[in-house]
Order: sequence, then structure tokens, then C-alpha cells
Amino acid sequence: MISTPELKIRQMTVADHDQVTDWCNIEGWNLSRSNIEAYFESDPESYFVGEIDGKVVCSVSATRFGECATMDLYLVDPVHRGKGYGWAIFSHALNHLKDVKYVGLHSVPEQVATYEKSGFKLFERIPRMSRIAERMPSSDNLVDLRKIPIEKLEEYDRPYFGSSRLNFLKAILAKEDTLALGYLKDGELRGYGMLRKQNVGYRISPMVVEDSKIAEDIINGLQSLVVGEEVSMDVYEKSKEVLQILEDQKWNHIFDFYKMFLRGPSNLDTKKACAPVVELG
Ligand SMILES: CC(C)(COP(=O)(O)OP(=O)(O)OC[C@H]1O[C@@H](n2cnc3c(N)ncnc32)[C@H](O)[C@@H]1OP(=O)(O)O)[C@@H](O)C(=O)NCCC(=O)NCCS
Repeated sequence: MISTPELKIRQMTVADHDQVTDWCNIEGWNLSRSNIEAYFESDPESYFVGEIDGKVVCSVSATRFGECATMDLYLVDPVHRGKGYGWAIFSHALNHLKDVKYVGLHSVPEQVATYEKSGFKLFERIPRMSRIAERMPSSDNLVDLRKIPIEKLEEYDRPYFGSSRLNFLKAILAKEDTLALGYLKDGELRGYGMLRKQNVGYRISPMVVEDSKIAEDIINGLQSLVVGEEVSMDVYEKSKEVLQILEDQKWNHIFDFYKMFLRGPSNLDTKKACAPVVELG
């Protein structure tokens, strides 16, 4: 490993978000600043950048949701790669998470071997699917998710995600560009999905559903809100029924991420929590 005495690691601030968003989109991850902000607002102390001579050259996030954490935004300015700055800031974030029970991340295929070096193990492939949204059949069971009390949503979501993520749900629903639908049956919440504006188009995430009929209704309802726009969705490989719905609707397979865990896996039910919670990169 390379030593990096000159790198100064500090907490990320809102002023750093444009730079980090740009790096993400150079990598083709298709994220919006607003999206990064929602995650940041749920745990701002867990976002870091590294500076050389006052210039930001690298970033990483280690967002905590109760007893789970996820690492994202692991980026080094392309002109500063290979100098040890990546490992330095990543180690800092790992240390920040030393008391957290479950630690995971989503890796691009090229970095799986790198993460394995620091003890992460492969958990599941996550294909990214995409299409141009069309007007789809509607369902009377769909409601505006913001009409559901946030405590009720958190209680519903917790067993699927594996831990409470109240702050995240609040932050993401507070963003004006988040569109969100709940699925009610006999007055009870049986699934939900969010559609979040990205650099290009929209992404469905997170989405929690109890069966494939509910999944199809939510996917259709969300698409109908943004007809003509590109929509994408990162779906766990084991969510075979959801992938089948997308294949039947002729969604395209864009690329793959890989869910990896350092500690865990948690009790995440990837058949029901279809679109990953966090896919910042
Ligand atoms: C991935 C990335 C952040 C690494 O930063 P970097 O500056 O290229 O890497 P460093 O110079 O810090 O690497 C130094 C050493 O630490 C290792 N290392 C870096 N990150 C590591 C990690 N997370 N776990 C274990 N080892 C790591 C490197 O493999 C290298 O090992 P070596 O000296 O044996 O070759 C950088 O290449 C990048 O921005 N890539 C594009 C974005 C991306 O793919 N991010 C990850 C998304 S999942």
C-alpha cells in the first residue's frame, strides 16, 4: 500500500456535492445531485472527502441506517488515481464503521477484486435495467405514498431492509423530485416504490413488494408518471419475477453491479426488496 501523508480527510459538505456528482456521472452511474443530497441528509457525518493543497481529490460515503451501513461514492479524481488516496479515504470510512454490525456496498464489476482484498464478499448480482417509460395499465390500489404516515412506512419497510431507515425515508420523500406510490389492500400497505430524478431520466428505487402482481402495478404506475422519459431500475438477481416483468416489457439490460458484504449479510430479503436501497456507486 502507498503512504499518503499529504492527504487531508474531512467531512463532506453540501458545497462538495457538485464535484462528487460530476465524478459519478463521468463513471456513467447516472446520479443527480438531489439524489446524493437525500442520502447525505440522512447521515451527514458519514460522508468524507480528501484534499490535497485545498483541492478535493477523492470521496467516500459510509451511510448508517440503524445497525446496517452502506459504502458508496468511492471515487478519486481521474488525474489522481493510483497514488494511494483511494485506499486512504476508504480505510478512514471503514474505521468510521467499525462498530456497525452489517457493512455492505454495491461494486462495479471492475472493483469486485479490489473490495475482496479488504474482506468484502460477493452476495448477489444486480442487473441495471432501463427503458423509455410508456403509459401503462393503472391500478386502483395505488396511492400517493406521502399520504401514508412516515412511521407506518418505516415499520413496513424495516423487516425488508433489515434495519430502521427512518431518516433516509424522511429525506428522500422530502425531495420534490421524488415521485412515490404505495399499494394498499384492505387499507393495509402491501408494497411501495419510489421514482427518483437522476442526471438522465428517473430511477425506480427503493421498491418493496409482497408479490409480483403488486410489483407490476407499482412499476406500471411509476412509469405512467413520466411517459417518454428514460426509467431505470437496479434489480436483485434473485427477484426473478420482477426481472421477468421487465423482460416482458422489453426493458434493456444496461450493466451489472454486485452487492458485497464485509459483515453480514443482514436479513435483507432480496426477493421482496427488489431495487437496492442505495446505489450511489
Ligand atoms: C476505485 C478507486 C476509488 C480507487 O482509488 P485509486 O486511487 O485508484 O486507488 P489507490 O491508489 O488508493 O490504491 C492503492 C492500493 O490500495 C488498494 N485499494 C484501493 N481501494 C481498496 C479497497 N477499497 N479495498 C482494498 N484495497 C483497496 C489498491 O488495489 C491498491 O493496491 P496495490 O497497491 O496492491 O495495487 C478509483 O480507481 C476510482 O475512482 N475508480 C473509478 C470509480 C469506481 O469504480 N469506484 C468504485 C465504485 S464500486
